[in-house]
Amino acid sequence: MEASAALIESELRRSIPEHGFVPAPLREAAMYSLLAGGKRLRPIFVLAAVEALGGEAETALPVACAVEMIHTYSLIHDDLPAMDNDDYRRGKPTNHKVFGEAMAILAGDALLTHAFYTASQVGRSGQVPADRALAIIEEMAKLAGFQGMVGGQVADMLGEQGLTRKEELDNIHRHKTGDLIVFSLKAGGIIGGATPDQLSALERFGYSIGLAFQIQDDILDITGDETKLGKPVNSDEQQRKVTYPYFIGLEASMKRVELLTDEGIQAIMSAGFPQPQRLKDLAEFLMRREY
Ligand code: IPE
Ligand code: IPE
Ligand code: MG
Ligand code: MG
Ligand code: MG
Repeated sequence: MEASAALIESELRRSIPEHGFVPAPLREAAMYSLLAGGKRLRPIFVLAAVEALGGEAETALPVACAVEMIHTYSLIHDDLPAMDNDDYRRGKPTNHKVFGEAMAILAGDALLTHAFYTASQVGRSGQVPADRALAIIEEMAKLAGFQGMVGGQVADMLGEQGLTRKEELDNIHRHKTGDLIVFSLKAGGIIGGATPDQLSALERFGYSIGLAFQIQDDILDITGDETKLGKPVNSDEQQRKVTYPYFIGLEASMKRVELLTDEGIQAIMSAGFPQPQRLKDLAEFLMRREY
């Protein structure tokens, strides 16, 4: 993970245009959050999915950077006073605390837009055929937008306090968190030349561990250590979020994380990938994470 994260970070460092008309404060605000650390989980999944198919991970770097840009913008906006109103992220004051709300919104907008430019470059090298590049960009738009992460964030916002069914909660998690993880895995799969069956195994893996990931995030919001997490705890209670721990308790939530992780691993281990071990290791690491 460290090696992949370092590779992704050096690529991210070079990804935002420096020349031409780029207002310095906009670039500074975007870079502040993009390079603030973070696990780089989604881009690591892009690379790991390519590797699972025996492909060359570096080919996928533009897509790996693109998904991290989308994820980072979603965090900047998620922390805004109008949303979760949080003051710390990735161990530093949140973007709006440093640059003000207007610049934080615009830095998020620019990261989102630039993600599409960055992803498009995967088809420019000649290593990934144009039809695969197009399929990736299409999936990215779908899984990050109306039907995807943004839709999930809206459902999360509307669901506060009023949620009564676990299925509704699963659906919120599926979109606000699962979709970007699924996109990362499928994009890597497309680059690595996965068969339709392998793509659907990556999707099942992604939704299982994506849900496990959000449940773990909500557990850590209660039991976690702020200095390890790099973000505040008890944010969900303050925002009156309905979460798995709220619904079924901590103990049962932890069990659910294990079960979902096992289900995800099963999907991936029976789909004929030449090298699925990294994906399996990542899923197991996430189940035990403390940050
Ligand atoms: C946090 O994501 C937001 C959720 C979807 C739970 P991460 O836990 O991956 O955050 P970073 O990227 O490591 O900061
Ligand atoms: C946010 O979920 C998921 C996103 C799409 C950003 P949370 O609101 O629980 O994420 P954290 O805990 O602030 O990282
Ligand atoms: Mg939120
Ligand atoms: Mg939040
Ligand atoms: Mg959270």
